[in-house]
Amino acid sequence: MAATGYVDDIARVLIGERELAARVAALGRQISRDYAGLDPVLIGILKGTAFFFADLLRAITIACQADFMAISSYQAGTAPSGAVRIVKDLDQSIEGRHVLMVEDVIDTGLTLRYVLRNLRARRPASLEVCCLLNKPARRLVDTPLKYRGFDVPDLFVVGYGLDYNQLYRNLPFVGVLREEIYEPG
Ligand code: IMP
Ligand code: MG
Repeated sequence: MAATGYVDDIARVLIGERELAARVAALGRQISRDYAGLDPVLIGILKGTAFFFADLLRAITIACQADFMAISSYQAGTAPSGAVRIVKDLDQSIEGRHVLMVEDVIDTGLTLRYVLRNLRARRPASLEVCCLLNKPARRLVDTPLKYRGFDVPDLFVVGYGLDYNQLYRNLPFVGVLREEIYEPG
C-alpha cells in the first residue's frame, strides 16, 4: 500500500495521548518545583519539539521564558548524517540565565552534544536538558538528561511533533511507522 502521510501508515501506537499528557504534566510539576524563583529560559528545538514544548510550558506553573532554535541534523530519511547546523538561533542572550533545553528525541546523542556545547559557550548560569523520548540503544556519547519523558526502544517513531520526511507531526500520539513506508520494496 502507498504511503498516506497519516494514520494509516502507523503500525502501532507506542505512547497514547493520555499517557503523553500525564507524563508531560508530571514533568511540568517537577520543573516548576526545581526552578521556582529562578526565572528559567526554556529553549525548544524546532520543529520536532513544537507540540511537546507547547504542552510542557502550559504544565509549568512558575514564571519562565521561551525561546527557540532550529537545527538541521538529519537528512531526509532515518539515518543520522552526523552534521548539525543552526538554522535559526535564539532571539535573546542566555548569559547568566538558568537554561532548560527541550528536545524531542535523544538517539545517538550527537545532536544534543553539539547544541549543548554551543549553548554552554554563551555562559548560562545553568544548563539542563528535558527530552520527551530517550532511545538509549544507539547512544554514542554520554548525555546528561535531567528530565526525560519516556525511554523507548530502538524504533523509528513519528507523531506528537516527530516527523518522517516532514510528515506525521500532527498525529496526537507517538507511533511506529509501518516498515514498508521507509523501506519501500
Ligand atoms: P541524535 O543526534 O542521534 O541523538 O538524533 C536526535 C535527533 O534525531 C532528534 O532530535 C530527532 O530530530 C531525530 N530522531 C531520532 N530518532 C527519531 C525518531 O524515531 N523519529 C523522528 N526523529 C528522530
Ligand atoms: Mg530534533
